[in-house]
Amino acid sequence: MIRQKIVAGNWKMNGTKESIMTLVNGLLEMDGSDAEIVIAPSFPYLSQVNDLVDGSCLVLAAQNISDEVKGAYTGEVSASMLGDFGVKYVLIGHSERRSIYRETDDVIATKVKVALEFGLTPMLCIGETLEERESNQTLLVCERQIQAVIAEVGIKEFEKMVIAYEPVWAIGTGLSASAEQAQEVHCSIRAFLAKSSESVAQKVQILYGGSVKASTSSALFQMPDVDGALVGGASLDAKEFIEIVKTAS
Ligand code: G3P
Repeated sequence: MIRQKIVAGNWKMNGTKESIMTLVNGLLEMDGSDAEIVIAPSFPYLSQVNDLVDGSCLVLAAQNISDEVKGAYTGEVSASMLGDFGVKYVLIGHSERRSIYRETDDVIATKVKVALEFGLTPMLCIGETLEERESNQTLLVCERQIQAVIAEVGIKEFEKMVIAYEPVWAIGTGLSASAEQAQEVHCSIRAFLAKSSESVAQKVQILYGGSVKASTSSALFQMPDVDGALVGGASLDAKEFIEIVKTAS
């Protein structure tokens, strides 16, 4: 099964109007790619970036979404609001949302359901902590996180989603999982999905995230079950991000 590669940049809570203008203009120098190139600014900059990338090869993502649809939820951002700003993808369940903001598997599953209902493509983030890996719970954790979403939306909806495997111990640490480590988990994730639907399992793009750099992305992308990357720190450097994209073609 040929799956298009996705290279996505999660800018996290970084940037100013000026720095984002510089970053996006640097990215726009790209000639395009066989990969889908996605950038995820913070909410306040979605409008500015949407205008800048209009008509280009860059696709917009949001970093989060409310599990509510509309109403008295101060500070929240709805799926329909994201649609107003040309957002295609939405990161859901990032480990920082789970650990710092205490988002549960159930809340994350509801967010996926809402995103799908409004035509957004969820990027479901899963992954284990170092403690969980060292106690051989990696697959148990990933399967639990995926099963909560299957229970909410059904396996067929995974055709409209992307999964991002981000081992927590590799995020922001400079210590990436090896290509072999990533492939082992991605293959197991795909096998777990195949228990519910073989055809869906073959279609779902599974990205790796966690200290991805241009020096490591090529080996990752050679792996049969690694369909791209969700890049944090390196996505804030236009030249580095472009080099990562080049390895995905
Ligand atoms: O969502 C991607 C992010 O968690 C990875 O961050 O800085 O390790 O590439 P980083």
